[in-house]
Amino acid sequence: MAGTIKNVALFGATGMTGLVTLPQAVGAGYNVTVLVRDPSRLPPDHKASRVVVGDVLNKEDVKKTLEGQDAAIIILGTGNDLSESERWEPTAFILNSINFRGLLVNLMCPLPTTAFLLGDRGRVPPPLVPITEDHDRMHRLLKESGLDYVAVMPPHIADNHPLTERYTVTENMLKGKVISKYDLGHFFVHCLSTTDWDRKTVGLCGEYS
Ligand SMILES: NC(=O)c1ccc[n+]([C@@H]2O[C@H](COP(=O)([O-])OP(=O)(O)OC[C@H]3O[C@@H](n4cnc5c(N)ncnc54)[C@H](OP(=O)(O)O)[C@@H]3O)[C@@H](O)[C@H]2O)c1
Repeated sequence: MAGTIKNVALFGATGMTGLVTLPQAVGAGYNVTVLVRDPSRLPPDHKASRVVVGDVLNKEDVKKTLEGQDAAIIILGTGNDLSESERWEPTAFILNSINFRGLLVNLMCPLPTTAFLLGDRGRVPPPLVPITEDHDRMHRLLKESGLDYVAVMPPHIADNHPLTERYTVTENMLKGKVISKYDLGHFFVHCLSTTDWDRKTVGLCGEYS
């Protein structure tokens, strides 16, 4: 996909990581379409080219967002609600959207399930079983989609560390304990201009003082 991507849909643009990914994507020259529930949560000076107001659990809103897009970045979350077991649905909607055949960069899961998905699957504590199963379904959908995708599994996402652009990306494993939200956003945008990580599941981490 690299080299052909110009138009990018961003899901989760009003979240902690989304808010710092949007300006990086715009700064890198992409036309960014965002799907947001509440546009007032975007900064007044945002430079998204198109704002679709809607819900990612509404298929029509997702279709509208993906029209004409070459890639999509999914940084959705349900905050600290670990009981939520519908996280995989947005990914399913996006993958099933008829016209979308672009690159999908998908934030798969935050702590605490990353450690289990990339590591010791036998030790998932009972309260985290449903969400781990969701992430599994999402991952399987991606792999079976036939799309170019990057499945991103971060450790703790920190909002008090800077953009360094120096972080370690490892396939199928997680080496460190933290990534800054800025560096995570940087990686999402980087994936749009390289095929290095296409169809791969990656962990990433940084070192911060
Ligand atoms: N590993 C960590 O340390 C860590 C730390 C924080 C978060 N996380 C996780 O990492 C992911 C991203 O983190 P984050 O902090 O950037 O997430 P976040 O701040 O919780 O943002 C989630 C985004 O998803 C959007 N969203 C949720 N449901 C939606 C829906 N039905 N339709 C449209 N948009 C919807 C939210 O929109 P609204 O603005 O409308 O709510 C928001 O933009 C999340 O899964 C989060 O749980 C991990």
